[in-house]
Amino acid sequence: MTYHQKCLFLYRLLLSLSFLSLSFSDDATVMSKLFAGISQPPSGWSISKDHCTWKNVQCDKSTGSVVSINLDYQSISGTLPSELTQLASLRSLSLRGNFLSGSLPSFANMSNLEELYLDNNKFSSIPSGFLLGVPNLQTFNISENGNLGPWQIPSYLIESTNLNVFHASNASITGAIPNFFDSFPTLQNLRLSYNNLTGPLPWSIGRSKIQNFWLDNQFQGLSGTIDVISSMTRLSQVWLQANAFTGPIPDLSKCVNLFDLQLGDNQLTGVVPVSLTGLPNLENIRLQNNKLLGPMPLFGNKVKVILGDTNSFCKDTPGPCDPQVTALLAFAGGLGYPITLAQSWKGNDACQNWAFITCDPQGKNVTTVNLGNQRFSGTISPAFSQLTSLRNLYLNDNNLTGPIPVSLTTLPHLQVLDVSNNNLSPPLPSFPPAVNISFGGNLLLEKTVATGRGSPGSGQTENGSSMSARMFVVVVIVVVIVVLVVLFVFYKCYMKREHKRFGRAKSPEKIKSTQMLKTNEIMGTAIKIQVLEKATNFFSEESVLGSGGYGVVYLGKLDNGTKVAVKKMKDGATHTKGMNEFQAEIAFLSKVRHKNLVALVGYCINDHKMLLVYEYMSHGTLGHHLFEWKKHGFDPLTWKQRVTIAWDVARGIEYLHSLTHQSFIHRDIKSSNILLNDDIRAKVADFGLVKKAPDDKSFVETRVAGTFGYLAPEYATTGRVTKKVDVYAFGVVLMEIITGKKAVDETLPDETCHLVTWFHKIIRKSHNLQKAIDPTLDPDEQTFESISKVAELAAHCTTNKYYRRPNMEHVVNVLGPFAHNWRSLRPEEIVEKFGGFDLNMSLPLVFDDSSIESLSFTNAQHRLNQSAQF
Ligand SMILES: *[C@@H]1O[C@H](CO)[C@@H](O)[C@H](O)[C@H]1NC(C)=O
Repeated sequence: MTYHQKCLFLYRLLLSLSFLSLSFSDDATVMSKLFAGISQPPSGWSISKDHCTWKNVQCDKSTGSVVSINLDYQSISGTLPSELTQLASLRSLSLRGNFLSGSLPSFANMSNLEELYLDNNKFSSIPSGFLLGVPNLQTFNISENGNLGPWQIPSYLIESTNLNVFHASNASITGAIPNFFDSFPTLQNLRLSYNNLTGPLPWSIGRSKIQNFWLDNQFQGLSGTIDVISSMTRLSQVWLQANAFTGPIPDLSKCVNLFDLQLGDNQLTGVVPVSLTGLPNLENIRLQNNKLLGPMPLFGNKVKVILGDTNSFCKDTPGPCDPQVTALLAFAGGLGYPITLAQSWKGNDACQNWAFITCDPQGKNVTTVNLGNQRFSGTISPAFSQLTSLRNLYLNDNNLTGPIPVSLTTLPHLQVLDVSNNNLSPPLPSFPPAVNISFGGNLLLEKTVATGRGSPGSGQTENGSSMSARMFVVVVIVVVIVVLVVLFVFYKCYMKREHKRFGRAKSPEKIKSTQMLKTNEIMGTAIKIQVLEKATNFFSEESVLGSGGYGVVYLGKLDNGTKVAVKKMKDGATHTKGMNEFQAEIAFLSKVRHKNLVALVGYCINDHKMLLVYEYMSHGTLGHHLFEWKKHGFDPLTWKQRVTIAWDVARGIEYLHSLTHQSFIHRDIKSSNILLNDDIRAKVADFGLVKKAPDDKSFVETRVAGTFGYLAPEYATTGRVTKKVDVYAFGVVLMEIITGKKAVDETLPDETCHLVTWFHKIIRKSHNLQKAIDPTLDPDEQTFESISKVAELAAHCTTNKYYRRPNMEHVVNVLGPFAHNWRSLRPEEIVEKFGGFDLNMSLPLVFDDSSIESLSFTNAQHRLNQSAQF
């Protein structure tokens, strides 16, 4: 028996065993296991009686199957049996307030489950996929299980669309809040207090209908602004205290049901919006330990208020601030209350040690505001016009946008206005002649002034500093153009060489021979050359499928009719690098089998010829279907087909990344390495660049190989190889799938030719996505939503910081719900986990024994080494 056959046998054995246990287990068996796992019998339970008579166990009268179990607050300890998931009719399981420990069982595929109360126990771990396929789940509560190992809110939960209550406070949750809370039309209660959630509030939560919203006391703290809550109009209770939120309190005037608002212990800044004090149902509000500014808010007397004494309100009592203070705070508001201002602009006297402010000798009136060179962004508030004594206003060298407010022209004493080197837009208001205004280095503004529109009147000349700023800009532009031209020429040469290599954009010298896989454990199938000669009609021109850097790929037809793809290495390639790739690919493909990886059927070594034989993929590459479908006579792919292809590819890569003994990095994921079969299902091909993933979490450095346009930045610049290199490249493929544009398209203008750069720009302005979508898709609303989610994922996969990119498991989970046949494929997933063998994939069996040479690869390699020496 070969290794392969043994595995197959073992697998079948396991499968039949699990089938046996499935078919003979019924509710009684599961209930007796539940009974046995619990340390002392719950009151009213007896193993000698029918389980349907046990106290707080309810069975369906007609079928006799268990529908509800309630063991709340019974002081029971012990563990739950993994068979619990077989209680197919169970609707409600309630185990609150006990001492249950050990791993939680899986509840996957319990299609009737509606209520699951697991709170206040001592569970230690959560199995992956534990809530997969529970479409009717309404209430889930796992709060107060502080002993749990860290876990993340699973993205597949999006399938449980009936969710009404999700409570998981003090339950060791880590990671980001998933961006899917707009997908639960009935979700009202979300409690996630006392976990270690990080990152921002996702925008989708703003479209949810949540009423009871607890995210307080995250260990490291959630960050970003709390702006999204302004659109959560159903909110009644909001607990966001003890996090790391920044920015101002948004306008909550639409949240008319809000009665309890807890925002203490954050980094919130800015003026408390007046609308907050007018909320009709507010009873309880806490704002302590923030950096709030401006007037102390005044709430109605039935409201219980805690403001603390570490905020920076202008006075100790409610009421308006000094006009100069009000004006300056309004200006700070235009900049989003940067922390440097929030920390310094305290109290009710702007002449009292406020940073960036100079007053007259009497210390009464603000004469100079100098905020040059502070990296501020935002707009210039018209409120500046209230600083009537202002003489000098320096806002130069920031990133300010929008126009210069016309009201500034009314400042009676203004002498100097320096707004140079920002991104301000026209029109330039007409200032009196006495004002010395500098506005150089604002490209938009300068353009209009130069073309005469909005030209300042006489006396408004640019001063020296803005002239030199202009010179500087010109010099920078010239330098950038020169660099771009050099890079472009360089890149052209590079691409020319690549084109000769067909679909494999790397040059042989870039392959590091010493890092190839160890080939000593290989037991591939050696195939006689005569068989391949016959199959390809002696490698005739007609059977050429394509040609690559180190050889030609032929279509072969075996005696039994099976089609195969035969890759024939160039003779010259036999010597060093080509052979290394050859060995690498055989070594790799003989170790792994997965339905989303193109399978190696066998190999052949004959004199100096080396051939690899693969399963034949009839529909060519994904690239053909996306970019050249007309030329190849294909229909454009539908969105469903595209997502399904993406999901297939993601699972292929996930498999490579997660093999138990040794995981691999593909390093050359791209649309021309993704092949499609008759059913337009995808497999990943070309494993010549595959590398072993480093054993620990760190990266290895290597010479860069791969394809321009798909290279992760850290890999391109430093040669660092981690699995995230594949995640990045996969993200680029997602972008190609969405836009129908190539990763690099030299025929397009500069700003659009590099897909990743262009796509990130598009994504930042979400309403632009529509324009970026491949015109052949023409999505309806539902499809567009699915495209938006995938677009978001693509952006996530291609973030510059490799540690911010998701892993492939996450990618698979996100894509799954959009793909074709998602559910029905789950059993095969289990097959993969078993040993990486797929029943449909015993491809070497397509040969009869006489065509297979009985050689182990060790011998073949020996011969190879010998021949390579000549
Ligand atoms: C969280 O759970 C742990 C362990 O069960 C407990 O000790 C701790 O007090 C809980 N924390 C909160 C804030 O309830």
